[in-house]
Amino acid sequence: MAPEGGVCLLLNTETVSIRMSTAARSLDGVDTASLPPVRTFKPRRRSLSAARQAWVSEQLARWGLAESGARLDLTEVFGRTAPVVLDVGVGGGEATVVLARQRPHEDTIAVDVHTPGISQVLAAIDADGLTNLRVVHGDALVFLDRLAPASLAGIRVWFPDPWPKARHRHRRLVQPTTVAALVDRLAVGGVLHLATDVDDYAVQMMSVCAREPRLVGGVVERPAWRPVTRFEARGAREGRTAVDLLYERHR
Ligand SMILES: C[S@@+](CC[C@H](N)C(=O)[O-])C[C@H]1O[C@@H](n2cnc3c(N)ncnc32)[C@H](O)[C@@H]1O
Repeated sequence: MAPEGGVCLLLNTETVSIRMSTAARSLDGVDTASLPPVRTFKPRRRSLSAARQAWVSEQLARWGLAESGARLDLTEVFGRTAPVVLDVGVGGGEATVVLARQRPHEDTIAVDVHTPGISQVLAAIDADGLTNLRVVHGDALVFLDRLAPASLAGIRVWFPDPWPKARHRHRRLVQPTTVAALVDRLAVGGVLHLATDVDDYAVQMMSVCAREPRLVGGVVERPAWRPVTRFEARGAREGRTAVDLLYERHR
């Protein structure tokens, strides 16, 4: 996941108002091993049929990693030594699956709390024999405890839930404590790739990442290789423009 394209500032931060109550929290002294219990996802009622649920459970037994448990040896998990990317909040899993097919040299851990998307990723693994994909049906922030420091080559957080209401902004996934915990798991030289089509969330992302001393980077042109998911497509239809931010862990 090498950064592609030059850094170019797309947003005028002066014109976007944002309540930075959480983003402004200091990183000093943050214990990233024990994150606050922030629920960053929205509850959904849609459930799977009993037969589909049974199939998902069966597939998770083969390809799933438990949300909690002992520290993972990723070489053992994938049966080889390769760069590992954590995909946080895969949604319908379209981008995750496309990239796993295109990048057989890379291993990916796809995480989401919601079953339908996880089910789609499992279906792709089953249909295409994608041995470079594993799935976590659970909270990515809880799962981080299973990953050793500096064990990842890349982390994607693409179109996290926007939480646009001011009183819900503390639920946003990209905030100082979570970014510090994510960066802990990135190897030096590893890449944190964020994307959003919510302007004030993009500003929050920039602000939080600028305060994380181990990261360098910023806004880049939309990488052509990043697949368009239905979330991005819907935003585009509604007149929103995606902003991509690429950061490298430099120390
Ligand atoms: C708007 S969707 C975007 C999905 C996908 N990344 C894309 O670009 O199309 C955000 C997803 O993040 C998931 N999510 C939010 N917080 C999460 C967390 N802490 N752990 C796992 N998944 C999370 C939600 O369930 C949802 O499916």
